[in-house]
Amino acid sequence: MTQQLTVVDHPLVQHKLTLMREVDTSTKSFRQLLHEISHLLAYEVTRNLPMTTKTIDTPLCQMDAPTIDGKKLALVSILRAGNGLLDGILDLIPNARVGFVGLYRDEETLQPVKYYFKVPAELEDRLTIVVDPMLATGNSSAAAIDMLKEAGAKNLIFLCLLAAPEGIARMKEAHPDVPIVTASVDDHLNDHGYIVPGLGDAGDRMFGTK
Ligand code: URA
Repeated sequence: MTQQLTVVDHPLVQHKLTLMREVDTSTKSFRQLLHEISHLLAYEVTRNLPMTTKTIDTPLCQMDAPTIDGKKLALVSILRAGNGLLDGILDLIPNARVGFVGLYRDEETLQPVKYYFKVPAELEDRLTIVVDPMLATGNSSAAAIDMLKEAGAKNLIFLCLLAAPEGIARMKEAHPDVPIVTASVDDHLNDHGYIVPGLGDAGDRMFGTK
C-alpha cells in the first residue's frame, strides 16, 4: 500500500507558516497563527468525509440537504504540542470526540513510552484524526498510531504542520494505510532530531517555555 501524502499549499497556509518559522515571532503570534492555520488544515483533512442527506424544511419548502454521515469523528492530540492544532480544529468540528496520547522517550532504549492514554469509545466506527504539529523521526507518531489501532481505530489520518522526509518514511514503513496531511515537507532532520529549516521546538514556541 502506498502512503497518501497531501501537502496543503494554499497561499494563506504557506504565508502563515512562514511567519511561524521566523525566529522573532512572539509566543502570542505563534499561537494565534497556529490556531488560524489549524482551521485551514481542518478544512483540508475533512475534505473526503462521507456524506448523506437528510430531509429538512427551509422557510420555502422541503429539501434533501447534505450532511456528514457516520459517527462523530475522533481527534487525538499527541501531547503536548498536538493541543495547539487541536483547539483550532475543534472550532470547526465542535462535536468531535477528543483523545490524548502522552509519550516520553526512554533515554536508554530511545523508545517512546506511554504515560497517558485516554481516547473516545467506539474508535472502530470513527474517523480518527491524529494531530501533532511536527512529524520528525516519526517514532512517537508511529507508536501513538500503534496504540490507537490496538484501541480499535481502523480509519486514521495523521495531520501535522511540518514533516521531515525521515518521519514520512517511518510512517510509510509502520502505517502505510494512514494518510498524512501536512503544510510542508521540509529538508531533513538534524543530529538533535529537529526539522530543518523547521520552526524550532513547537511546544516551546506555542507555550513560551524553553
Ligand atoms: N519537535 C519539534 O517541536 N520540533 C522539531 O523540529 C522536531 C520535533
